[in-house]
Amino acid sequence: MRLLPPVLLGAITALAATISTTHDHRPSTLTPRANAPTCKLTASNGGYVGGSLHEAFGPSTVCAPSKGLLNTFMFFVDFSDYPASNTGDDTPAKLKEFFAPSMEWYTHSSYGRLNFSLAVDASRFYRMPGNASTYNLGRGTITTESHLKYIRDAVDVYLSAGGKAPGDPYDVVYIVPARNALTIEAAFTTLTPIRSRSGVSFSKFSAVTTGMNTYTHWQYKVINHETGHALCLPDLYPSTGSAGGYVGGWDLMGYIKATGPDYFAWHKWKLGWIDDAQVDCITDRGSTTHTVYPVELKGSAMETKAVVVKRNNTMALVAEVRAKTGVDMTACATGVVLYTVQNADPRGRVAGPIRVIDSTPRSGGCRGEELSDGTLTLERVKTLAVPGWNVTVSVTEKVGEAYRVKVDVY
Ligand SMILES: *[C@@H]1O[C@H](CO)[C@@H](O)[C@H](O)[C@H]1NC(C)=O
Ligand SMILES: *[C@@H]1O[C@H](CO)[C@@H](O)[C@H](O)[C@H]1NC(C)=O
Ligand SMILES: *[C@@H]1O[C@H](CO)[C@@H](O)[C@H](O)[C@H]1NC(C)=O
Ligand SMILES: *[C@@H]1O[C@H](CO)[C@@H](O)[C@H](O)[C@H]1NC(C)=O
Ligand SMILES: [Zn+2]
Repeated sequence: MRLLPPVLLGAITALAATISTTHDHRPSTLTPRANAPTCKLTASNGGYVGGSLHEAFGPSTVCAPSKGLLNTFMFFVDFSDYPASNTGDDTPAKLKEFFAPSMEWYTHSSYGRLNFSLAVDASRFYRMPGNASTYNLGRGTITTESHLKYIRDAVDVYLSAGGKAPGDPYDVVYIVPARNALTIEAAFTTLTPIRSRSGVSFSKFSAVTTGMNTYTHWQYKVINHETGHALCLPDLYPSTGSAGGYVGGWDLMGYIKATGPDYFAWHKWKLGWIDDAQVDCITDRGSTTHTVYPVELKGSAMETKAVVVKRNNTMALVAEVRAKTGVDMTACATGVVLYTVQNADPRGRVAGPIRVIDSTPRSGGCRGEELSDGTLTLERVKTLAVPGWNVTVSVTEKVGEAYRVKVDVY
């Protein structure tokens, strides 16, 4: 399903897949580091074109701030047809606890650069004016209009029941149903400023609504996925929902229960958590060697977090290192993860904007994900000729948690 602006995410977006296979390396006399900005894929409205989110850099008016304070607010709703039980786990106080770890997740993932401040009104459930079954928030039935109606109903009922209006509008607002609102199925994000119908400016950038699969499947990290959209990161999973997907168990924008949920280095670079000085950029033929440090750890300001080979403004290839640490304690494999990044077309469309390259095809993967064990390591697969790229990547040495990575572009 593809929706026009304001964009709605979390359901299914059906887009055509294209992967390019030819080569166009521009000569460059700069050193990889000084060159880093050259490796950014750019778009005129960074992160957001034609109603779709994508992987490009560039200024954008619709993305919530990814550095410094992200001022967000959550409140709880229930319905006449599915009233909250107000017992056990289904109380506002328990739900507040349930979502709290999403804040620390961002502290780790952003190396402290994002202060994700999630204020919660845990005083009560606000009773929605409509029955849950009337809101059309199922995967097949949701539209931008039905989502906005739900959001505005929630904000209105919150304010009219005496909820405190924000002094300044929040950056993002989260509307969370009680645990038994069976027809409020999935989580969705709409990127648009939210006002109450009486004109109170409530949220500057976006609104997120959660559903029952938060409780049955995703748990608190649904907030880190949906907030990723608020920060203009796209979904990384295929529209068909086919098993394995494009990125396996890496980056929770692909799979919320990913074994290695930390955002890709490309995403952290785009969000401003990794600096240009931490990216080695290759635009020329030749052989270079890089010491690459794990994305999960803050490390020092001069540690390389990613090696990027840029083909043109459409395609880049990235090598990053994953370790079993930080938010990736449950990672299936460690080592060098390779992936391609594809820019959106002028209408913002792209399917599989990031695709992990499997060093161990048909291995059966790890915990159900074929790509999750596909890293380069000294023990298993040391060298990979990247299909269609005239690029070979090798790991030559492990130094602490870092890897020496040799990149040959020919
Ligand atoms: C980038 O390279 C790919 C493959 O050669 C090609 O299909 C694509 O059109 C190129 N994009 C630009 C902007 O030149
Ligand atoms: C790879 O390099 C060879 C030799 O230079 C060239 O003929 C071929 O077109 C290149 N392939 C790609 C996909 O760039
Ligand atoms: C909402 O659901 C309740 C309980 O099932 C029902 O009594 C009521 O008539 C419904 N209201 C509307 C407006 O459908
Ligand atoms: C995060 O923001 C909140 C709200 O402004 C503030 O109270 C808190 O001190 C900030 N924390 C950090 C680590 O900056
Ligand atoms: Zn999503």
